Amino acid sequence: MSEFIFKKMILRRRFCKRVIVVGIVFIASFYGSVLLFGNFKGPQIMQITNLDRCPACYGVTVCPELYSNQIILDSTHWSSMFNVRNIFYGYTKSNRRVVLKKLAHDWEFREFDEKICKLMNLSESCNVKALLNISNIDQKVIDIVQYNLSWPDTEPRKGIVLCPYAYSIYDLLHPLLNNRNGNYKSEMINIWTMLNINPEPILLQVLPKTKGWPVPAYGGVCGRLEVVAYEGESLSALTHIPWLKKLKYAQKIISAAMDFTFKHDKFRFYLMDWSLDNIVANEKDEVSFVDLEDVVILDKNISPKKDLPDWYQRYSREVLGPGFTFSIENMCRHHLSDHNIWAACYVLAGDENPFLYPIPKVINDTRPHFDRLLHSCLNGDDKFRTAGKLQHVIEDMLLDEKVIALGAIR
Ligand SMILES: Nc1ncnc2c1ncn2[C@@H]1O[C@H](COP(=O)(O)OP(=O)(O)O)[C@@H](O)[C@H]1O
Ligand SMILES: [Mg+2]
Repeated sequence: MSEFIFKKMILRRRFCKRVIVVGIVFIASFYGSVLLFGNFKGPQIMQITNLDRCPACYGVTVCPELYSNQIILDSTHWSSMFNVRNIFYGYTKSNRRVVLKKLAHDWEFREFDEKICKLMNLSESCNVKALLNISNIDQKVIDIVQYNLSWPDTEPRKGIVLCPYAYSIYDLLHPLLNNRNGNYKSEMINIWTMLNINPEPILLQVLPKTKGWPVPAYGGVCGRLEVVAYEGESLSALTHIPWLKKLKYAQKIISAAMDFTFKHDKFRFYLMDWSLDNIVANEKDEVSFVDLEDVVILDKNISPKKDLPDWYQRYSREVLGPGFTFSIENMCRHHLSDHNIWAACYVLAGDENPFLYPIPKVINDTRPHFDRLLHSCLNGDDKFRTAGKLQHVIEDMLLDEKVIALGAIR
């Protein structure tokens, strides 16, 4: 009996000790963060731009606005203190909401910084300023986006792939390099850095929202921070909205897939990260694609050499396995691929949390072909034709009084 009580006492004492240790660790980390970030309100702009890493940074276009407090961090977001994804929120002096994105995790920056000197063939532990003296920056930029069709990657590939020939990079970067009258070399080092870490700021300038692309309005960059307009909430958080609203978003998602494939006069943009987290919608029901880290860009006007015997054939996605799989190699070997269309239909009607399902019974009763079309967009042969038909049916439904009357049905 007394042994039992003794054991119990030891256990209780151990438990108390653990509670005290956890408490101390929590308080220490809390005050540590406060010390680190300066006050109770979370990080300050200065601490997140990492301007000291320039020219191995994204650029400095929006620094004046950030440093003169025209863009203010919203420090009421407690989450920003323990923010692993490195996404911060803020607002402008005119009260427009903005998102401040570092575009990588801290460990990714550390990894990049550790290998920067080696990548640029400079001495070990070089100073980043030494990058300004290198002579082969154009080749370095080409090497990063190149996809070797003779020895295609077996590992998953991140960032931009520019294919079939990487020298198209000059055409792609035209809107960036010609807009400014800055220093060519430091701008190319910025581009090289973005291509290494996250090419999103490049894409937002090549596909500006002002020209109708379904992407966030681009504010600029400062050090290792990108500023974009807040474009609404992720569709993954909007699964409870009325079905009619979902249908409106679906219409925009399908037209975005068509736009990324056809709208640019030189390139196709095959998005590689289609998930409801990366698609947001705002109060005006505009839909934007917010995560442009992984994109295969195809130059559609090249003259195919012998290495591209099937260039003029269309590539239709084969069944490569369950879920979201694709072949960069095949996309790069053909002048047109149905990847974006298939991916759009996959987020709407595929295996993982399909956005449009369940379809309300009334719709299935009156328009059974709608469900069939969604499935043939996933598995059928001519997905472009199916997408055209789908657009037609959706347009029709959105004009139909009886469907509109469904307004509140979820
Ligand atoms: N411009 C934006 N407007 C609104 N929300 C955004 C915007 N950019 C990012 N977000 C939100 O932040 C999340 C993470 O951003 P994202 O670029 O997808 O980074 P990650 O690489 O961590 O997926 C998104 O899923 C979205 O909810
Ligand atoms: Mg994302």
